[in-house]
Amino acid sequence: MSSHKIIIAIDGYSSCGKSTLAKELAGKLGYSYIDSGAMYRSITLYFLRNQVNYSNHDDVLNAIANINLTFVFNEQEHQSEIHLNDENVELYIRDMIVSEKVSEVAAIREVRSFAVGQQKRMGRKKGIVMDGRDIGTTVFPDAELKIFMTADPEVRVMRRFKEMYAANPHTTIEEVRNNLELRDYIDSNREESPLHRAHDALILDNSNLTREEQLKLVQEWVKERIADLKSAK
Ligand code: DC
Repeated sequence: MSSHKIIIAIDGYSSCGKSTLAKELAGKLGYSYIDSGAMYRSITLYFLRNQVNYSNHDDVLNAIANINLTFVFNEQEHQSEIHLNDENVELYIRDMIVSEKVSEVAAIREVRSFAVGQQKRMGRKKGIVMDGRDIGTTVFPDAELKIFMTADPEVRVMRRFKEMYAANPHTTIEEVRNNLELRDYIDSNREESPLHRAHDALILDNSNLTREEQLKLVQEWVKERIADLKSAK
């Protein structure tokens, strides 16, 4: 679209479609896409597999020292996939067992500083779209474009239910609703970098937008932002 590369930060509640938008936008712009939630999910998976007592500060620090997270581009799927200590864990990190614990793990200060440090490094060269909860507020407070996504809670429940049901037909709507409500509550009320809209973020409510409509709208925002930056030079 342009050789002027920027950082695009997308934040919002669980199951607002952040990663769908971020992935499609990165593809259109030729940017890299980083799913920061996948990092917290992979750390949670490691804690669960290794029975890390995450109420113990030293156990958390020792565990983090043994975690190596990388994003590897899968040419066939045209997407980057997260690897935990060289194992592709994409298939495991969306399980309900991980979803049930991830907000608790993501609220731990040491876990956040580990993940945020890596995220900041990934943005050094710009040309990146990152989605999460604190990207426009903590990770990239100077991002050139910040978007805060919302959608009607029931729309979000049904979106997530369809995804979860496809992977596991025993999933119930009630289970998905409870998980989303609890995660929203913990993510918005934790002490460390709680989810909130950056004052300069544009709000995108996609309850009644198709994927194509939201992508088109955000591509316009990107164009406008880059034009503004160029004219301010
Ligand atoms: O986007 P997601 O649902 O995959 O994120 C999983 C959890 O990780 C979410 O409940 C909160 C946490 N998270 C976070 O605290 N900060 C981020 N930047 C991204 C995710």
